[in-house]
Amino acid sequence: MNALKAAVIGVGAMGQHHARVYDQIIGTQLVGIADADPTAGAQIARLCHTRAYVDHRRLLDETRPDIVTVAVPTEFHHRVALDVMESGCHVLVEKPIAATEEQAIELIERAEALGRKLMVGHIVRFDPAVQELKRRLMAGELGRIFQVRCRRLGPFPDRVRDVGVVIDLATHDLDMIRYLTGQEAVRMYAETEQKIHSAYEDILIGTVRLADGTIGIVDINWLTPTKIRELTVTGERGMFLVDHLTQDLYLYENAETSDERWGAISLLRGVSEGRMIRYPVHKYEPLRAELEAFAHAVSTGEPVPVDGQDGLAALRLARAMVRSGREGRPVLLG
Ligand SMILES: NC(=O)c1ccc[n+]([C@@H]2O[C@H](COP(=O)([O-])OP(=O)(O)OC[C@H]3O[C@@H](n4cnc5c(N)ncnc54)[C@H](O)[C@@H]3O)[C@@H](O)[C@H]2O)c1
Repeated sequence: MNALKAAVIGVGAMGQHHARVYDQIIGTQLVGIADADPTAGAQIARLCHTRAYVDHRRLLDETRPDIVTVAVPTEFHHRVALDVMESGCHVLVEKPIAATEEQAIELIERAEALGRKLMVGHIVRFDPAVQELKRRLMAGELGRIFQVRCRRLGPFPDRVRDVGVVIDLATHDLDMIRYLTGQEAVRMYAETEQKIHSAYEDILIGTVRLADGTIGIVDINWLTPTKIRELTVTGERGMFLVDHLTQDLYLYENAETSDERWGAISLLRGVSEGRMIRYPVHKYEPLRAELEAFAHAVSTGEPVPVDGQDGLAALRLARAMVRSGREGRPVLLG
């Protein structure tokens, strides 16, 4: 099979990695990049053995890519992704899908009307520890899920000017909660504050109630002088823990359910400390897995693994959290 021609628009902090990975993976050939900043564009083009453009429409006209990543600042996702689809390409737009729900809906509708694939870069799904966790949850290894808790703490990123921490980071975790449970949120409440960001909130504690009664918790900020990226899923048989920074997956077993009687019991007798198991996880770069999955979907015609509706759902939840935080009251969804 011929390699897919790939291009990247916006090669800043994130987009430059898309360019690097397209340049490296078998199955894609990087035909060009575009960045409004000619110096940044030229530097990444040199590193990735490709041509740089300043105007993304010229890149699309001259190189005729099959697949394009859009990694410009969120406020420009909508305009640039529309240009990409209208020029005949399939698009992977970085998360969050767009700045507003209306823009996201328009992207989904245009992709459908034009017959283009629209994938959203919810990269955390491609963490191999998350993939392994998902496989184990689907196999029923935890029994009923009670709670999903996400912690995403770290220092303030100077580069993010156009959105607050909820839209920039909580979209990852709100997507995770949907992805791991397969459930939609019915109610949420958020406490947010703007401590040092000049325009938006930079700290969030949020709770999400899912349709089946599972509780999601997001604890996210740009105010912590060390990076923490953790996810726990607590259920009948214990608690799974993912450390995204090391791609490790652990299970802390509930000793009351860890023996062979598990299959037969219908009622939980209680919770007590059991074994801790660290599962072997084959480490892999999540971005590489994401772009390989995108290229695979385009080559085979199969659905993309994270579509526009997933992107819209995460954005909707994040917007509801911003609203809840501002108004100081729960938001009902559905
Ligand atoms: N998936 C993730 O984990 C992750 C991580 C970081 C950023 N992101 C997302 O990626 C996007 C970009 O974020 P970033 O941190 O890389 O920002 P950035 O500011 O570092 O890079 C954006 C680049 O886009 C260029 N640009 C702006 N407008 C353009 C246009 N019209 N045409 C071409 N180039 C243009 C800028 O010159 C800059 O080089 C955001 O939507 C962000 O949410 C995702």
